[in-house]
Amino acid sequence: MCGIVGYVGKNQALPILLDGLKRLEYRGYDSAGFALFSKGNFEIKRNAGPVQGLVDASLECGKTETQGIAHTRWATHGAPNETNAHPHRAGDIVLVHNGIIENYSEIKTMLSREGVKFSSQTDTEVFAQLIEFRRREIAKKSEGATAETILLNAMKQAMTEVEGHYAIVLMSQSIPGKIFGIQNGAPLVVSNLKTGALIASDLQAIVPYHNEVCFLPKGEIFVADETGVKLTSASNKGLSFEKIDWTADKVEKAGFESFMLKEIFQQPLVVADTLTGRLPVDQKSSFIWDHQKAHEVLWKNVKRLYLIACGTSSHAAMAAKYFFERWARLDCQIDIASEFRYRSPVFEPGTVVGVISQSGETADTLAALRLANQAGVSTFSICNVPNSTIARESGFQYPTKAGPEIGVASTKAFTSQLTILCALALDVARLRGLQDGKESVQASFTGLARLPQDLDQVLSQSETFMKMGETLKDQRIILFVGRGTMYPIALEGALKFKELTYLPAEGFAAGELKHGPIAYIDPKVTVITLAPKDEWYSKTISNLEEIRARGGHIITIGTEGDEEAKRLSNEFIGLPQSSWGTQPILSVIPLQLLAYGCAKALGRNIDKPRNLAKSVTVE
Ligand code: M6R
Repeated sequence: MCGIVGYVGKNQALPILLDGLKRLEYRGYDSAGFALFSKGNFEIKRNAGPVQGLVDASLECGKTETQGIAHTRWATHGAPNETNAHPHRAGDIVLVHNGIIENYSEIKTMLSREGVKFSSQTDTEVFAQLIEFRRREIAKKSEGATAETILLNAMKQAMTEVEGHYAIVLMSQSIPGKIFGIQNGAPLVVSNLKTGALIASDLQAIVPYHNEVCFLPKGEIFVADETGVKLTSASNKGLSFEKIDWTADKVEKAGFESFMLKEIFQQPLVVADTLTGRLPVDQKSSFIWDHQKAHEVLWKNVKRLYLIACGTSSHAAMAAKYFFERWARLDCQIDIASEFRYRSPVFEPGTVVGVISQSGETADTLAALRLANQAGVSTFSICNVPNSTIARESGFQYPTKAGPEIGVASTKAFTSQLTILCALALDVARLRGLQDGKESVQASFTGLARLPQDLDQVLSQSETFMKMGETLKDQRIILFVGRGTMYPIALEGALKFKELTYLPAEGFAAGELKHGPIAYIDPKVTVITLAPKDEWYSKTISNLEEIRARGGHIITIGTEGDEEAKRLSNEFIGLPQSSWGTQPILSVIPLQLLAYGCAKALGRNIDKPRNLAKSVTVE
């Protein structure tokens, strides 16, 4: 969702700010803006629409200015227009903001009574006006105090009044050469460059400049100048910087027509990276985790597992339920985070809560994690962004190594999540002494080891999948069906399809077809059926017969050489036969590419589908 960039130093600020905004576009936004500190005042530009519009409107700006803040806004309060775009000016200060101010309406009423006039509908302007109002009040009572002390006191005072999770970054007209900000639950990453200080809401805007970063702690006010970033808290905690192995080339398209296509093709590599150093020498030995002892204690004592996530990540959780139940005989309950956080989940001794999130910043998933942490149960996370809030707040982590995922529609993060979950469930079965005699366990060990190779083989048919996708653009609705581990993959196929094409698409358990969705079937309806040669195969084949009998158009994703499924389908995609645990990972690839091909034929914005945000940091 919204993105923040700030720079103060010796270099020209505007190119750094605009480059940062472009790198944050993937988060989803509908307007953008910047403010430069210029000749004792602010030069502010805002634009509804793409960052490129802002770039085009700024050709004559920022030739000499070395200090500025910038923002991409995903509208929450007020329409996505220029007036509501950030930065917002309030008297002496100019401010950008991520997150939501929950009590903005009360504060606005209070400030209006005091004569403050507002020019936008945003909660952000309310925050800016509140700081300015307090700054003026404090200044009257603090003769002799510096402008900086007065501003910092005003920010502290505003923090006590404002409710919500947020990050703000601001400049004051009275304090040249400095940028200030607060991290209060929405991430801010900073880096001290040789030429100054860089601040952003997201690693992507920083890594092209420096790979040593610090995620600011929650509840802290910072000040940045050309010498770097400092916290202002009384405890004066030093910042700890760490090296990130994300490099600039990892956030480029590398010759692909879109980030999403690049990310689809990266899947063999990132799955290999996710498994590197973790696979055991043999089935009797442990997988290798970063915190081996804690991992073993946790899983030897587990009685119930909750896996919580949103969107695509929740489909990974659903597939994992099959693994944990079958291999580890563990009660595994799945919930989407936005429901879990408001239910009354039962936390008993032995309950473990695992949260799954690509971004590690999803507001609902974070709230679910906090609920579990408060209840005192053990928690872990499967996250893709190192040091994200969810990663930091979970008991321990099983990181995926998919690298930066820029396409809003998740692909490589999903396959990496499934890979980790498959490995984890196999290891938990070993720890619980339950591996023996299960054919699917042995096969899935082998399946994991050869997964990158199998994924390569599936991707070699990418052109065919995309062409097939093109043919779906005139269908009335696309249904995705599967049984067992293919059911969550069907849901994921439908989600990818609707996200990218904006066409109606629904996923079902194949066995549910006859309980309602079969009413959809006619020749303008395509049913994409996941029918690998697994234990549910014959049942899924019966479903194919039922769809065929009603004239539905059938695309089957099955196993290479399956003549029976081919005969029953209008089109057939044969995949290599993998294992029970890894087949779902192979089967989602054609679904990603079908959606891609169809969206391309419809001229959709593939990397940034309308209305969606990469990182959903508000409820
Ligand atoms: O970053 P997270 O994995 O927590 O995000 C969860 C969902 O918002 C995300 O998977 C969303 O459904 C994607 N757009 C899927 O492509």
